[in-house]
Amino acid sequence: MEGVVDPVLRGLFSELGGVDLMVTEFIRVTDRELPDHVFLRDAPELSTGSQTASGTPVVVQLLGGQPDVVAVNARRATQLGSPGLDLNFGCPAKTVNRHDGGAALLREPARIEKIVRATRAAVAAHLPVSAKIRLGFHDTSACLDIAQAAAAGGASWITVHGRTRDEGYRPVVHWDLIARIAEALKIPVIANGEVWSPADAADIRRVTGCRHIMVGRGWVARPFLGHEIRSGRAPAGLTELWPWLLRFFHRSEAARGSAFAVARCKQWVRSLSRNSPECAVLFERIKIASTSAEMLAGLQSARPQEA
Ligand SMILES: Cc1cc2nc3c(=O)[nH]c(=O)nc-3n(C[C@H](O)[C@H](O)[C@H](O)COP(=O)(O)O)c2cc1C
Repeated sequence: MEGVVDPVLRGLFSELGGVDLMVTEFIRVTDRELPDHVFLRDAPELSTGSQTASGTPVVVQLLGGQPDVVAVNARRATQLGSPGLDLNFGCPAKTVNRHDGGAALLREPARIEKIVRATRAAVAAHLPVSAKIRLGFHDTSACLDIAQAAAAGGASWITVHGRTRDEGYRPVVHWDLIARIAEALKIPVIANGEVWSPADAADIRRVTGCRHIMVGRGWVARPFLGHEIRSGRAPAGLTELWPWLLRFFHRSEAARGSAFAVARCKQWVRSLSRNSPECAVLFERIKIASTSAEMLAGLQSARPQEA
């Protein structure tokens, strides 16, 4: 998730466990091959066997509208070690869409097919090429065409976020249409959208018939969700989360400096507040922090006795 699940948070979620595969934030390609340092900046896991320190594979995601340019970058990302290549056809951001990327392409399934086909041809045959789609741009009428276009281009699997671009992140989600797509396609379909709890995970699987699910915001809000889904463990409260928050802050600071770490720490605590009243209280304390010292003081004030 761009601007949220960065290399630091990926590393941390991987340490917490319960996840099989991670995808980088999208890397945008326009009209040329990106220099290696861009791939390595956005996907530093490439330099460690394309996995996190705890061993979760990390696949590079590209976003772009020109088949040949996407393909050449896909080849490079996989030459650098990405264990596959994911293509983003779902980003709803206006700036991205204006520049011919992300969800803008949902209006042109034929171009999605071309981009997937060119990428498939450019990437070594043993590595998967996957596509992340939404159900349409303004409405869902072309959702099957979009999914079939990605499959016809040679996608190994697709991940379907059950909303249109215009629906943004509003609560409505069309799991039933993910089911229709999964029924129509021969390749695996990964269901995505509005999974916040183990009950949601069970529901999305039941409604869509998909075995695999992709979780975005729900994981950030509930970092042990993978274990909760797999083994019924109890959700974590602040006592369990606190040492991870401290680690997150220090690692983010080491990676990108104090201002960045302060902002990201606020962002994460705010997400955690959804499930933890103690985190909501902590957020009220740290939301005005602007320096590293202020953030650390705020975190220390919530230190659980046993930590
Ligand atoms: C802030 C933000 C950034 C996102 N960035 C990406 C991205 O870089 N690549 C991508 O495929 N999806 C991205 N998404 C979409 C999520 O992967 C996911 O499809 C969407 O949030 C719905 O799933 P969820 O309800 O589990 O969050 C982003 C979503 C949000 C809210």
